[in-house]
Amino acid sequence: MMCGIVGYTGPRNAARVLIEGLKQLEYRGYDSFGLATLGNGIEWYKRAGRIGEAEKDAAGIGGKTGIGHTRWATHGIPDDCNAHPHLDCTGRIAVVHNGIIENYTELRRSLKARGHILRSETDTEVIAHLIEEHSGSNLLDAVRDTLPELTGSYAILAIRSGEEGIVAARKNSPLVIGVADGEYLAASDSTPLIDYTSRVIYLEDGDLAHLSASGVRIFHEGAEVVRPVERLGWSPEEARRGGFPHFMLKEIYEQPGAFSDTVRTVCDLPEILLGCRGLTVVACGSSYHAGLIFKYIAEEACQIPVRVDLASEYKYFMAPTRDPVIGITQSGETADTNAALQSAKVHNIPTLAITNVLGSSVTRIADETVYMRAGPEMSVAATKSFIAELAVLIRLASLLSDRSLDITLDQGHRAIEEALLTDMGEAVQMCSSASHIFYVGRGPFYPVALEGALKMKEISYIHAEGYAAGEIKHGPFALLSRETPVIAVCTPGSTHDVMIANIKEMEARSTPVIALGSGADRELDAIADILIPLPDAAPVLQPVAATVILQLLAYRTADALGRDIDKPRNLAKSVTVE
Ligand code: F6R
Repeated sequence: MMCGIVGYTGPRNAARVLIEGLKQLEYRGYDSFGLATLGNGIEWYKRAGRIGEAEKDAAGIGGKTGIGHTRWATHGIPDDCNAHPHLDCTGRIAVVHNGIIENYTELRRSLKARGHILRSETDTEVIAHLIEEHSGSNLLDAVRDTLPELTGSYAILAIRSGEEGIVAARKNSPLVIGVADGEYLAASDSTPLIDYTSRVIYLEDGDLAHLSASGVRIFHEGAEVVRPVERLGWSPEEARRGGFPHFMLKEIYEQPGAFSDTVRTVCDLPEILLGCRGLTVVACGSSYHAGLIFKYIAEEACQIPVRVDLASEYKYFMAPTRDPVIGITQSGETADTNAALQSAKVHNIPTLAITNVLGSSVTRIADETVYMRAGPEMSVAATKSFIAELAVLIRLASLLSDRSLDITLDQGHRAIEEALLTDMGEAVQMCSSASHIFYVGRGPFYPVALEGALKMKEISYIHAEGYAAGEIKHGPFALLSRETPVIAVCTPGSTHDVMIANIKEMEARSTPVIALGSGADRELDAIADILIPLPDAAPVLQPVAATVILQLLAYRTADALGRDIDKPRNLAKSVTVE
């Protein structure tokens, strides 16, 4: 499930803290939400829809300990009843859960046979009833005894009326504990914790924890263990919108820093890449496009073959190669990418993760991890994390090629800043009145076209397709018309002339063309309806700059159409199901 969970125990009104925490988790995508507290017995509130002004409805809910949840429906429709928390038959136990209980059908059947009343269609509800069955002991033991009955993945928070504190458990689903003075939080990621503390504990798979006003205790395989308290590098301001109308725009403007901070920190070649003769990259969505750009850059600079596979395909159709596998995932929680890396590991293939999130699940799977330094990305559409991925990949290609691609920190920063100044009023007008848009490019600008189209479709809902420019005449030509703009990236270099020829073929079909290229390119200027100049930067930085311009074009178009930019319909930030 692509859900978010949050728990709180301390001196404050728990419902208020939980609602604020759930709002911080909204970016993950959700269709319903809810919370339960230890007030007068278990007090709860849950609803389908947006959190909005839930604090008004939940104003009467007391208690200083509680758990909350944002749900993305997988088992049962998004309605009030299926929203979490779920309670047992007695109404004394409440549970929130992120993950999937795979054996829930059998569990439901046997629970019903034993007389339990199940109210929802969810897999999660079985957990509350199983805990109820083990309730002879304290809640910690009851949860511990329940876990072996569950098959699947979970991050669970549970409370029981009359008993202090929260019990937390994790298996293949992230869970982080926030440690403040006399108050403790738990959540799917650190965003709800930032307002309270920068000290966190990342639970390991198989951990069981008890959080109460008197502290946190963690158990693993029956024994009490000590997990390190780590410091979050993110300030509260970094996690907020900072005056921009949307997180996406704020994050687009943070890209010069994200790029140079990342370049600055990737100094050494990871051990598993030393002397490698070939590479495989696995990733999804934008991260996959970053992998494709890397392929063009690294194959040229390092003269080694780079295979790029969609992570969702890799696990089932592994190529017969033993080259190291790089998994790129900004969130570190993408189920397909993590599963692909796990499959590589099963075959003893060395693995490297590139991620933005410290301690995320992928870091526990891969042999080595390289972090990008993009800071928290709240908008569903990936922008600064994509640019930071490119920063890591350019650095790795450079280190693999004896630094032939070395760029100064200043060069990357400057190219992105310049791209951010691009005026694209006319192009926005053309795009916002279109129903279909094609994006084309060659070489590394082919994946740039894919990424530009992905950004446009996900936030503006305009149908947009990225193509290798040479492929347009092998089918999509049938769709070209006066109403279907083509965005063509055409830079100086070996493919310039053939791109010009491709653009002319499109013009001959009355297709309006928005070209990205050199401002000094007279030939391009003469044939394009609109020419958007790219910054004058090193070739390796051109795909970075072109992507930034296409992000802005998608953003401005979506804004002109009044879309819900940070939370596009049907999408979630972390896709934690395969
Ligand atoms: C697009 C987008 C998605 C992600 C994809 C992979 O804007 O955000 O396509 O790129 O879901 O996510 P990560 O990188 O977290 O594995």
